[in-house]
Amino acid sequence: MSQTSRQTDLAESTAAGKPEDTAPLPSQTSIPTDEQASQAVQEMAKGGSNIDTVIGRLVVDQGLATAEEVQHCLVQARQTAEDDNQRSLVHLLVRNDYVTKRQMARLKQIVEAERSGQKIPGYKVLGKLGAGAMASVFKARQMSLDRTVAIKVLPRKFSSNPQFIERFYAEGRAAAQLNHPNIVQAYDVGKAGDYHYFVMEFVDGRTVYDDIVRHRRYAEADALDIVIQIAEALQHAHQRGLIHRDVKPKNIMINQQGMAKLADMGLARAVSDKEMAEAEAGKAFGTPYYISPEQIRGELTIGPPADIYSLGATLYHMVTGSVPFDGKNPSAVMHKHLKADLVAPDHVNPKLGAGISEVIEMMMAKEARRRYQTCADLLIDLRAVRSGKTPTIAHREAPADALAQLAQAEAAQPLQAVAPALISTDSGDVLRQWWFWTLSGLLVLSVGFNIALLATRQ
Ligand SMILES: Nc1ncnc2c1ncn2[C@@H]1O[C@H](COP(=O)(O)OP(=O)(O)O)[C@@H](O)[C@H]1O
Ligand SMILES: [Mg+2]
Repeated sequence: MSQTSRQTDLAESTAAGKPEDTAPLPSQTSIPTDEQASQAVQEMAKGGSNIDTVIGRLVVDQGLATAEEVQHCLVQARQTAEDDNQRSLVHLLVRNDYVTKRQMARLKQIVEAERSGQKIPGYKVLGKLGAGAMASVFKARQMSLDRTVAIKVLPRKFSSNPQFIERFYAEGRAAAQLNHPNIVQAYDVGKAGDYHYFVMEFVDGRTVYDDIVRHRRYAEADALDIVIQIAEALQHAHQRGLIHRDVKPKNIMINQQGMAKLADMGLARAVSDKEMAEAEAGKAFGTPYYISPEQIRGELTIGPPADIYSLGATLYHMVTGSVPFDGKNPSAVMHKHLKADLVAPDHVNPKLGAGISEVIEMMMAKEARRRYQTCADLLIDLRAVRSGKTPTIAHREAPADALAQLAQAEAAQPLQAVAPALISTDSGDVLRQWWFWTLSGLLVLSVGFNIALLATRQ
């Protein structure tokens, strides 16, 4: 296969439209439709005898068929060589019921990955892990250090944007400075052919998104255990000047030991929030459910409270089983982030304690200044709730918030509508002011003076 057509393969696999983009589960467990499976079999069959070697090895490696079964099909393939369409190993494996069409479709993803991986020197691609709105992620072996890594390959369309490339490398370098057990470690950034890639720690596990799809929601304590770890990860990043900007269930991975790891640190910054929202808008599962109001408004200075909002929206989804704001399209959802009142989490799931609800509500305050300003503060409350105590910071803020609302109501309404008690207290105060008595005295003097003046003229 020529270099050009190989590149086209990768371009297709990194662009939208693959089964895992629309499937509710990640690619590792995605189930191709019958039509997709048939198509995959047709495409692989076209590869001819060269690809037969690759397929034969993979089928055995993956334990889908035995070496004898593959051998049997290869013999049959030679015997039926005249019948062009039926001779391929792929068709024969399916026809003999050794491998299903769906298993073949999954194998196609691995074959594609192997081909694209040849373009990243030093790495051997083992399979495709998934694809998001922006890129595809492959599992690979880093030959020099003999370790498994994950490689994110960006679509070629980004290569033409010098600003993006600059930010991509700058953020990659910044992310590589971070070292925290709850952050997916960044290893390397680079370019091979037309593709820019990002090499990172491979997390053998699942995402929080996968868990939500499977179990709808988490028990309060389990959700808190995960969110506390992610708040610690964010604290580490924030202290070093990095804002994540894309905290969401799909970017929180849980490894086999149950440890939570924040993925894509540093990557989100390379793309503007608007670009990201637009790219995600085209995806069935990429609606901006977790984005902060200030990111929607396109504000230039995005600080730690933006990540705290997104983590709050993620926690909301984890414990209620529903996203905080839903709508028929991405702009409806974004409008609600800006304007709609949040339904209290404990109203959606009455099993939740009042404490966690208060914390989530403070994390998701519309105005950044009303949220926790740092993850250190957030962690104080999260840990308190986890150990059955009252979240002191959220609790302290709540009455102040009520007072602010009262003050707003007062300003918005005519004076008569405000509680009479407030007016009488105010007027009582007025009578005790020094300027009131001074002005009154001057007025009396001035009237007296004028009367005296009139009297002298008469
Ligand atoms: N470091 C990693 N280790 C293992 N799997 C990963 C890693 N990073 C990403 N993935 C998998 O690849 C998928 C696609 O990732 P990504 O392109 O970042 O899109 P998204 O974050 O929107 O899902 C993830 O959902 C996850 O299943
Ligand atoms: Mg991601």
